Amino acid sequence: MPKIKIEGGHKLTGEIEISGSKNSAVALIPAAILCDEVVKISNIPNISDIDSLEEILTYLNAQIDRQDNILTIDSSKIINKEIPEEMSQKLRASYYFMSSLLGKYKHVEMYFPGGCSIGERPIDQTLKGYRALGAVVTEEGNRYIIDAEELKGTKIYLDMPSVGATINIMIVAVKAKGKTIIENVAKEPEIVNVATFLNNMGAKIQGAGTNVITITGVDYLHKSFHEVIPDRIEAGTYVIIASLLGENLKIKNLIPSHIEALISKLIEAGVQMNVEEDSITINSGNKYKAVNIKTLPYPGFPTDLQQPIIPFLTQCHGTSIVEETIYENRFQNIYDTNRMGANIMVKDNKIAKIKGVTPLRGKNVTATDLRGGASMLICGLVADGITTIDNIKYILRGYDDICHKLSKVGAKIEII
Ligand code: EPU
Repeated sequence: MPKIKIEGGHKLTGEIEISGSKNSAVALIPAAILCDEVVKISNIPNISDIDSLEEILTYLNAQIDRQDNILTIDSSKIINKEIPEEMSQKLRASYYFMSSLLGKYKHVEMYFPGGCSIGERPIDQTLKGYRALGAVVTEEGNRYIIDAEELKGTKIYLDMPSVGATINIMIVAVKAKGKTIIENVAKEPEIVNVATFLNNMGAKIQGAGTNVITITGVDYLHKSFHEVIPDRIEAGTYVIIASLLGENLKIKNLIPSHIEALISKLIEAGVQMNVEEDSITINSGNKYKAVNIKTLPYPGFPTDLQQPIIPFLTQCHGTSIVEETIYENRFQNIYDTNRMGANIMVKDNKIAKIKGVTPLRGKNVTATDLRGGASMLICGLVADGITTIDNIKYILRGYDDICHKLSKVGAKIEII
């Protein structure tokens, strides 16, 4: 099994370019099949989650072509058939196909989606949305049969601002008759990206990026060309790395306002950075102070950067408190982080108390999930000696060319 091997302690200089957003691309691709013509999506990241979606597209008989970072999808000959369980379970985003197929054909059969095991991750809000729009959902264990004689616009209030439920309901409502109003929706930039994409194809969606989204259904979606936004979590991960090891390290092609919560926390800890329109340049310091973090839906501090910021907090003077409010099981990286020399106590899987500064030492560690893996990788870059990371398939699901991007700026990191 491949592993990532890191010799820690090297300063990083130069430029790192951010790729297209995973969580945006993985929604845009399934949404594309709502269209009956050819769709082109640019700035597609080169990550294994995209390969998994391409596999599903091909299974559904879509014609696809990926050249450089542009994915062309022709859904004119698509067949509405049940996606095999092992394909659905490879990633969370497989359930966006459930929505496009339901919107397009008023019938879909689908297995529960996969995704990192960072908590329970139910899909009740998505199903509530389908039902409100007029579908009958039959649950057979982990399999869903969803039928609608007619999809009809309505008002839906989400119990929590779920990213997945917002995107799923938006996709179906585009093909429903009349007006749908979704309240208490998620406001993440990925949602705005998906809404813009659908609007470019002829959908009528208003309010994406606010608490309420209004969708007026349309019959036909036409061809379109669309660009994936920069990955704010990848950007945040490299900004954290630059705060620890950067020597004039520039992180390029990002949208700083998308990571405002992270930037504020790093500045509060003492990081000095030069924030420009689409880049951030950082010279790391050596006297950071502890800060407290609470994860929240956007624009709060993203849960997806909670694990990557832990290694940074081990290098801050004093005690930092991190509260995870989105997922029940997002501290799996702490066990190995402590083995590397950190002093972190976790209470009820909700709150971590990080006492710094603690030097870190290289060890053999495991990526328990995508962002947990990124966290271990950052520990390895900072630590004295050699770190090897197992289970790197998680990291490669979400970080485009990470070893190459880091080696180019001076890290000693490779896949072995
Ligand atoms: N929730 C429910 N019921 C639902 C939907 C969500 O209880 O029907 C709960 C979840 O259990 C969770 C919270 O609401 O506690 C938020 O879940 P959300 O639906 O917002 O998350 P998601 O759509 O499953 C996306 C990203 C995650 C990211 C979250 C939060 C994708 C493919 N995944 O997940 O990304 O953590 O939003 O921002 O877009 C990652 O990239 O590492 C990752 C896990």
